[in-house]
Amino acid sequence: MDILSYQSDFIAYLESQKFSREPKNLYEPIDYILQLGGKRIRPMLTLIASDIFSGDYKQALPAALAVEVFHNFTLVHDDIMDDAPLRRGNETVHEKWNINTAILSGDAMLILAYQYFENYEPVVFQKLAQLFSKTALEVCDGQQLDVDFETRNDVTIDEYIKMITLKTSVLVAAALKMGAIVAKADEDQAQHLYDYGLNLGIAFQLQDDYLDTFGDPESFGKQVGGDIIENKKTYLYLKALEVSNSNDKENLLNLYNGKEKNNSEKIDTVSTIFRNNNIPEETFKLIEYYTNKAFESLDHLNISEQQKQGLRVFGENLMSRKV
Ligand code: IPE
Ligand code: IPE
Ligand code: MG
Ligand code: MG
Ligand code: MG
Repeated sequence: MDILSYQSDFIAYLESQKFSREPKNLYEPIDYILQLGGKRIRPMLTLIASDIFSGDYKQALPAALAVEVFHNFTLVHDDIMDDAPLRRGNETVHEKWNINTAILSGDAMLILAYQYFENYEPVVFQKLAQLFSKTALEVCDGQQLDVDFETRNDVTIDEYIKMITLKTSVLVAAALKMGAIVAKADEDQAQHLYDYGLNLGIAFQLQDDYLDTFGDPESFGKQVGGDIIENKKTYLYLKALEVSNSNDKENLLNLYNGKEKNNSEKIDTVSTIFRNNNIPEETFKLIEYYTNKAFESLDHLNISEQQKQGLRVFGENLMSRKV
């Protein structure tokens, strides 16, 4: 597995695409968000999967770009929904332009993502489009649950895991499976790789939730504490409610029901309660649990030990990320 070649070939392919066209108020924001970078995890997974099953990753570049454009579309709309000011250390699209622009540019990105499948022959095209449509709807389901949970006080940890599986994991899993589809891998092999991605995606979103509260504001690139401001029912919050004493619990419930108008005080109090109740450690434990669960799927793959090791290292690196 040659992650550096995947990275540079993907960036070169991305840059060869002209997203900046007329009308510029529609396409400039698209160019802007795609050029802001990001970790490019999903397209890397598409290329890795194609390489593993066919020894050719370049044929998966259009599918990888479809996944990344779709992911960036979800971020543009997610930032409106989460009232987020910062993305990748820069202004979010709806802050830099306005909400209407962010809505329409996002819509155009969703269509552009689909167009990349036109690079494939009919059988592959159909399989990619089927998986993609199913996945995109699931992401919508997850995003709606995430928003619904903001105003609910009875969300369970099981419901939370279901929600993050939908809003985040299915796309990580689909990114891998798309690479397998392009490589014409057997359906059962593609499915085991999908399952690896599904559990890895859960661990990934848990880490995202941890960093949202405890990340370094200098490097994180998003507003630290944004989830607390928005009353997000993250694992950190739900676990704290479960393990804390009645005083902390009452405090949390009050804070998440609009009883504190000062955001920075709210963030301070909530993160102190999280720390005092060892929530970071609890979160790391669950991240490790889902990462190991992801690695179990690798046992079912008929690929070399070296390739499995590559997928393990990829998973472990995700867990130690700071952004
Ligand atoms: C952010 O995804 C949204 C989540 C699903 C957590 P990433 O953390 O992959 O964002 P970028 O693309 O690297 O900026
Ligand atoms: C994002 O979850 C999931 C999708 C974009 C579909 P978050 O709202 O936690 O993602 P960030 O933290 O804003 O990147
Ligand atoms: Mg968000
Ligand atoms: Mg969100
Ligand atoms: Mg987040």
